Amino acid sequence: MKLLPIALALAASSLPAMADSRVASPDGDIEFRFDVVDGRPTYSVYFKGKEVIAPSHLGFKLYSETGRNDFTKAAAKTGADALSMTDGFELAGTPQLTSFDETWTPVWGEETEIRNHYNEAAYTLRQPDFDRNIIVRARVYDDGVAFRYEFPQQAHLNYFVIDEELTEFAMTGDHYAYWIPGDYDTQEYDYSKTRLSEIRDVLPTMLNPGNASTTTFSPTGVQTSLQLKTDDGVYLNIHEAACINYPTMHLNLDDSTMTFTSWLTPDNQGRKGYMQTPAVSPWRSVIITDDARDILASRLIYNLNEPSKIEDTSWIKPVKYIGVWWEMISGAGSWNYTDDVYSVMLGETDYTKTKPNGRHSANNEKVRRYIDFAADNGFDQVLVEGWNEGWEDWFGQSKDYVFDFVTPYPDFDLDALTDYAKSRGVRLMMHHETSGAVRNYERHMDTAYTLMNEKGYNAVKSGYVGNVMPRGEYHYSQWLNNHYLYAVTEAAKHHIMVNAHEATRPTGIARTYPNLIGNESARGTEYQAMGGNRKTHTSILPFTRLQGGPMDYTPGLFVFDLSTFTPGNNSKIASTIPGQLALYVTMYSPLQMAADLPEHYEMFPDAFQFIKDVPVEWERSVYLEAEPMDYVTIARKDKNSDEWYIGSTAGTADRDSRISLDFLDPGRKYEATIYAEAPDANTVDGQQRYQITKKKVNSKSTLKLHAIAGGGYAISIKPLN
Ligand code: NOJ
Ligand code: CA
Repeated sequence: MKLLPIALALAASSLPAMADSRVASPDGDIEFRFDVVDGRPTYSVYFKGKEVIAPSHLGFKLYSETGRNDFTKAAAKTGADALSMTDGFELAGTPQLTSFDETWTPVWGEETEIRNHYNEAAYTLRQPDFDRNIIVRARVYDDGVAFRYEFPQQAHLNYFVIDEELTEFAMTGDHYAYWIPGDYDTQEYDYSKTRLSEIRDVLPTMLNPGNASTTTFSPTGVQTSLQLKTDDGVYLNIHEAACINYPTMHLNLDDSTMTFTSWLTPDNQGRKGYMQTPAVSPWRSVIITDDARDILASRLIYNLNEPSKIEDTSWIKPVKYIGVWWEMISGAGSWNYTDDVYSVMLGETDYTKTKPNGRHSANNEKVRRYIDFAADNGFDQVLVEGWNEGWEDWFGQSKDYVFDFVTPYPDFDLDALTDYAKSRGVRLMMHHETSGAVRNYERHMDTAYTLMNEKGYNAVKSGYVGNVMPRGEYHYSQWLNNHYLYAVTEAAKHHIMVNAHEATRPTGIARTYPNLIGNESARGTEYQAMGGNRKTHTSILPFTRLQGGPMDYTPGLFVFDLSTFTPGNNSKIASTIPGQLALYVTMYSPLQMAADLPEHYEMFPDAFQFIKDVPVEWERSVYLEAEPMDYVTIARKDKNSDEWYIGSTAGTADRDSRISLDFLDPGRKYEATIYAEAPDANTVDGQQRYQITKKKVNSKSTLKLHAIAGGGYAISIKPLN
């Protein structure tokens, strides 16, 4: 670590209110300005000389709770409101300025080296009325800014409860926003692109009351990562980093002033965080650029997180997997063993005495077939959902004790299947659906992870469907965020990798805990079987959800008319086979699933070849083309060979791209295999019309390609010499 003092730039501001101190990015393009104005901590941000975040206040409102707010005693003397941490501040001393530059090696990622380079300013803010201090620490990178609150240990601030964090992000105009509704319980929404002023009108149309758990809170509340675009072509992306022991942040828009204010997820009493000094808030971050590709290339969120706390990471390995899954999601099969729910609810614990429903997917015969398919096609693992007892009444009943995570149904022979998988050189992937009964999961976790160790499982997909228990807790509260991290750190002790669905959206903590190899935390492919996803969905997720960490999107659908294998499921899937292939490149994840049924892959062996070939470990990534919701084109180099892979998705409209292959080794010859839509392909009934062409290429080649809205293309490039 290198810490160098940098010159403090003090200059007269154009804004009379802000006499400010300023800290600029290493390249000078981004500037963070800070001042205490009339006792209120205030910041603004400039990009290439233009204001992109107007003067915005910082602070907190505390909650008065007997026994915890000892600081109110000090206030009694002055009559001031000790619960207010928004005003009455003064700057204590001069800001501490440092800079930092290091290159670190992620355990997995879009590249093998990441540069973490910033200038930093720490402002100590004093509230003399209460004899207490907080610190605002800001970091300015070439790709954005971030700041957090620090609460040093001190006599007059020990325990405290947050009523609300009041961090503002004042917009400089009625920008375009790419957003999903703020919700304490689900992130599984389609995205909308609207002006900020239109959020209020459009938000009600986005709500999905059919969702198992949904708790929206404001007509103008949205989630992060929030992508924005100004009329003069500046892209802003607001998110948070290192959300640890703290609730997840939403943003609430005051659309009369175009100012967002942080809105934390409450606990079941409406409180927003139980704190004890010394403590820090998560980082509040804004990526800033005038080239949308930089948002995809930004590693701001990871850089703001701490280095790995796991010393030996040799057991953490990217995974390509298939699963006994899509047939349950589509409705053809079932997770539960019996439909004889009443026997089970009445306390029948011996499932062999119930009547099998004949549709239980996780049965010995089927799992063997999946193991064979995985082994024959080079997959590492086979996920099996519905293998364990409890699914008869798994959610919706607010039932606390549903699963024990160790008892298989009678038609799933755990030992025999484990042995069979081993004999075929693949592993089974564990599934722990908690149905939101989080306390029950914590009680069983150690036994469940120990069983995984005994049977040789090294990865678990967990899930949090339904309302959380303890009842009244929300999915993204401080308590739940602590649970998700507990599951990850306990798993690490067992050398287990975690892929949690329905858990809070990630904030880069996988840098610190790299066994968190996946999360869902957004609307995934499962919704293609439940009505469908918008055509633009996968061209916005890399800008938003993926900023905090990889998503288990579960791509790879080859059959788009679900009624062909699930009578009655009339979901329409507006995608194409090449568009599905592209997602293995554009939706970065060290954990990639081939979601469709083996028999569907067997129908299209030449297209399936791409899924077999595409790696899950990368050395380098080149962001060729990008515009939120419209298109994303990325080239990546395999970590273990000299092969390159390209994926491109088109969202809003059909798209012609011209891409230069100048990232290839000069002087080397390659063969490109292009998986593109056929001229008569469409996303209504022509999703399976594709063409595969081979071409000799080199670093001077340019390719002209076409993708239809909702679709895309994929290319593999293999060296010939
Ligand atoms: C929701 C998850 O997203 C899905 O992948 C899983 O199959 C179900 N929950 C059941 O656990
Ligand atoms: Ca889900």
